Amino acid sequence: MYSKNDYIAVFDSGVGGISVLRQLRKVLPGERFVYYGDSANAPYGSRSTEEVRALTFAAVERLTGRFPVKALVVACNTATAAAIEDLRANYSDLIVVGIEPAVKLAADHHPGGNIGVMATQVTLREEKFDLLMNRFNGDRTIYKIPAPGLVELIEAGKGDCEETQVFLRRLLAPYIGKLDALVLGCTHYPFVKHNIQAILGPGTEVLHGGEGTARETKRRLAAADLLERGEGRVEIISSSSDGAMAELAKRLLEQGGRHGF
Ligand code: DGL
Repeated sequence: MYSKNDYIAVFDSGVGGISVLRQLRKVLPGERFVYYGDSANAPYGSRSTEEVRALTFAAVERLTGRFPVKALVVACNTATAAAIEDLRANYSDLIVVGIEPAVKLAADHHPGGNIGVMATQVTLREEKFDLLMNRFNGDRTIYKIPAPGLVELIEAGKGDCEETQVFLRRLLAPYIGKLDALVLGCTHYPFVKHNIQAILGPGTEVLHGGEGTARETKRRLAAADLLERGEGRVEIISSSSDGAMAELAKRLLEQGGRHGF
């Protein structure tokens, strides 16, 4: 069946899942990872749910067809929202871990506090998100904050450019002083977390779910006795024909600390 030195496959529409891979490497330093960014088809967040599901299945088939994979981490909130149940049903032997906006973490940190959730249009419109939101609504306000266009800026390596600052200032202006926590519900956004925090100020905690996903992956591997304690390695592949995405992904993998996560 599966062996300890098989790969952990990590998948996203582009470079966003690198924010999750950084957390995975912290808790699972001895593992072999293969990271796949479907950048030829990014962004996923403005597509139909059916398109996202089909692209997610195609990516997973490509990964499992090419590499011996013992666990799959869907490091994309959008793909998780659209396809995680179908993936689990289809790959019932495989460990499949997804990511969802860290609303629970924000609610735990800020009892009764107001929470904003920044995510793609797909994530925010799926039933899965409404179910999550209804669990924590109660006496607080949860604001849905879609950010169409932000993934494209980050994919273009413009996270620190003036264009991105202007975009974020405009998007977040109505929420300044209103939020106890802002959840980054898209794995691309942690790469601009430092800019977001600067706009919202110290009174708002900015959170994302990468750490929880990494811990859950470790827990599932341990339960299946599939933890590897080797040298640790990362291979990065993408669906784009040029090497730009892989180059950016490598840079973000190394530089995460500078981005405050
Ligand atoms: N990084 C992905 C997420 O977590 C989606 C980005 C996209 O729109 O492709 O939702």
